[in-house]
Amino acid sequence: MWDELRAHHAQVADRRFEALVDADRAAAFSAQAGDMLLDYAKTNIDATGRALLIDLLEQTGVAAKRDAMFSGLPINETEGRAVLHTALRNIDGGPIEVGGRDIMPEVLDTLARMENFANDVRNGRFAGQGGKITDVVNIGIGGSDLGPAMAVKALAPYHDGPRCHFVSNVDPADIAGVLRGCDPATTLVIVASKTFTTIETMTNARTAQAWMGQVVADPGAQFAALSTAEDKTAAFGIDPSRVFGFEDWVGGRYSMWGPIGLSLMIAIGVDGFRSFLRGAQAMDTHFKVAKWSENLPALLALVGIWHNQICGHATRAVLPYDNLLSRLPAYLQQLEMESNGKGVSMDGADLEVPSGPVVWGEPGTNGQHAFYQLIHQGTRVIPCEFLVAARGHEDDLHHQHQLLVANCLAQSEALMRGRDLDAARAKIADRFAGDELERQARHRVFAGNRPSVTIAYPKLTPFVLGQIIALYEHRVFVEGVVLGINSFDQWGVELGKELATNLQPVVEGTQSADGKDGSTAALVGFLQKNGV
Ligand code: F6P
Repeated sequence: MWDELRAHHAQVADRRFEALVDADRAAAFSAQAGDMLLDYAKTNIDATGRALLIDLLEQTGVAAKRDAMFSGLPINETEGRAVLHTALRNIDGGPIEVGGRDIMPEVLDTLARMENFANDVRNGRFAGQGGKITDVVNIGIGGSDLGPAMAVKALAPYHDGPRCHFVSNVDPADIAGVLRGCDPATTLVIVASKTFTTIETMTNARTAQAWMGQVVADPGAQFAALSTAEDKTAAFGIDPSRVFGFEDWVGGRYSMWGPIGLSLMIAIGVDGFRSFLRGAQAMDTHFKVAKWSENLPALLALVGIWHNQICGHATRAVLPYDNLLSRLPAYLQQLEMESNGKGVSMDGADLEVPSGPVVWGEPGTNGQHAFYQLIHQGTRVIPCEFLVAARGHEDDLHHQHQLLVANCLAQSEALMRGRDLDAARAKIADRFAGDELERQARHRVFAGNRPSVTIAYPKLTPFVLGQIIALYEHRVFVEGVVLGINSFDQWGVELGKELATNLQPVVEGTQSADGKDGSTAALVGFLQKNGV
């Protein structure tokens, strides 16, 4: 199945895809889910390529796997778990069974408890020992940080609750910087950890507990916990009334739809949070019912597979022309790379194609003045994914928003068209001549023929953010199924964690570095000499 695609690619690789972009192509190579548009006309995928890519979905059984996921079957085979983050946003849907038991009553009950607590925090019924909560500090890392941190930033125009801060890094600079700006008597600390064992989070949580204990009589009363491990939250001293649990069928990087989203709910209120869930739910329905040629997550996955596994482009840039989405690239790094950065398929065999790509990016237009040079003229092709809203939230500054949109569209056009040597010469012929004209002109050539997709939407509301995140989740799922990997485990993070635990006493000087490799021992020596 890969061979046919490779053969097709070999036939079309050298053409300029701009020639494909006639008046009909935009309609034929785009699709909509509700009022969200995915345009992939500026790629080298033609009707034959798309048909072959859709064949790939058929042959790898994406539809059956999708239905298995939504119905609660244990598709996370290496951990023996169902994958049901979609249940957390199934607020208007029917029952979902796991092991013969309908899980929806429990999901909705937890949602209702979260809503009561969020309302209490927002209206002051739940107060700190010095009065109404002014600041919420979410302590968590990875999936217990990136989702809510990204979403709280993205939905800043909807904030009407207390200030929200996020502490993730074990680097003391992180927590010290956040706590410095908070009053312990009016701060709520949320310890977010699925396992409640993650060393960074537990270390920061104890630091926050000690900080609060210097001022208030009962620090535990201003702590809440979000976790699957209720025994451990109790041992930490957090009252069960402020513990919001979830089950192991919610993966860390897929968890912001449930308790891990509590900080977001407190920031924007329960209606805004429900709207966020509804946006995701709408994308779930679209993913389930739309045929592949009109299915946004499937199409985004096919574009990703074409560029990475077929064309061999090892990275993709996510470029939101929406400053509110400034943390989206970081969030997607975990979602995509922790999910699909794997070298063996579900049955343990080596992958026959490369694993998922390196994902990176920054908001436009900042990126334009930093790394776009390489995107336009570097020797490697970097497929780009632009995100852009028709309207911003600043109606009085709409002219600035229009300039932002023009920049976004200009970049994808420039990547596709490029500028050839004749055009480069013509641009500077009034200033240079002869050999100097040739030399100068070559520096001003843009190869063009560089692919991009654009995701466009009316405005970044809670609903639209839900759509965007669910779109990317399902894209990752489809890519994972096609590669034959398990997108829901993360064994690749374990080795480093084990070695860090072994190295801690060595760094502290209570154990010698004997037995460590020469480089590590020398680094420990240098750092110890300098006061570690
Ligand atoms: O180390 C990786 C990881 O397990 C992520 O998958 C997860 O999101 C993160 O650590 C945090 O885990 P926890 O929520 O259990 O603290």
